[in-house]
Amino acid sequence: MDLAAFRALAPLCWRAPSAHNTQPWRLDHQPDAVRVGWEPAHTLPAADPSGRDLRLSLGAFVETCLVVAADAGLRLRFVADHCAADRRAGWLRASPHRYDTPFDAAQVLTRRTHRGRFSAGPDPEVVAAADAVARASGGTVRAVPEAGRLARLLRAADRQTYADPAVVAELRSWLRLTPTHPDYHADGLTDRCLGLSGREATALRAALAAYPVLRPLGLPRLLAAASGNPLARGGAVLVLIGPPGTDDATHVEFGRVLARVWLTLHAAGLAAHPLSQLIDTAATRDALGSLLGVASERLLHVARVGRPVGPAAPSARRLGGSGQGFR
Ligand SMILES: Cc1cc2nc3c(=O)[nH]c(=O)nc-3n(C[C@H](O)[C@H](O)[C@H](O)COP(=O)(O)O)c2cc1C
Repeated sequence: MDLAAFRALAPLCWRAPSAHNTQPWRLDHQPDAVRVGWEPAHTLPAADPSGRDLRLSLGAFVETCLVVAADAGLRLRFVADHCAADRRAGWLRASPHRYDTPFDAAQVLTRRTHRGRFSAGPDPEVVAAADAVARASGGTVRAVPEAGRLARLLRAADRQTYADPAVVAELRSWLRLTPTHPDYHADGLTDRCLGLSGREATALRAALAAYPVLRPLGLPRLLAAASGNPLARGGAVLVLIGPPGTDDATHVEFGRVLARVWLTLHAAGLAAHPLSQLIDTAATRDALGSLLGVASERLLHVARVGRPVGPAAPSARRLGGSGQGFR
């Protein structure tokens, strides 16, 4: 039975990306379907109050499940059925056909977010391929012209992020800046994934611990400056834009699109470094919308994209293969 066999693929499905690597998805195996929902403790109410990134992450998980299942020869489909009150994104059900995808489980396993240096941005053909993926669902992928101009917006967004104690406390709760952290191998953002040296990780830990005292003395500005300018590390900035009238259900659908775009980039030897702060902050989201001539609520995801100079560290997952969390 395809649904039962699907259960064994959990560790591969869990390689899906999620904001802050919270892995918010929860699967509930029922006799004739698998319910895809989410765990409130693994959402980001401060950093993601609208739930946009939660829904994108759920969609990315669904797409990952479908790719992994298809690669294993299982026939699954997704039936979207978003209901916030029931914390439900939809259902994975048996299908008469295998899911039609150009991607495979090996690509799911080797794709990763890359926050380091890029030697080049995507060729126009790759941007066109990513755009074609989004267009198939009524959206588009656009490269920001003269992305260097975004540096000022990024600085403003970082400053605003670090000025909000709730956002900083939440970020801190998902940071894993030392291998002795009990959840270092389970979830969150590790020092290695963030590309921090031992000294930088220690300094960040100390600064965040002192945040309540140092915040009025200008720590947010200092933290924003310390994050540096990711745009100086190369690549181009791509924006995923949803159709007019984008709503919660569209976010889940576009999480699937986002996963397909990232796998398209990965297949071309490229990687993405999301810069969500640009659209999490109202002022910079509006500025980016004006720059692109698009209503700001249609901006779903922003990332620096390019050809990595070196490998990125693999991120942790809560599910190591024991089936835990995969009811
Ligand atoms: C919707 C979404 C938003 C994200 N936003 C950011 C971001 O703003 N900055 C960042 O460095 N990574 C961001 N990420 C990347 C996640 O941190 C990353 O997927 C997670 O840590 C797992 O790592 P992996 O992608 O290498 O598997 C985002 C991912 C998703 C799915």
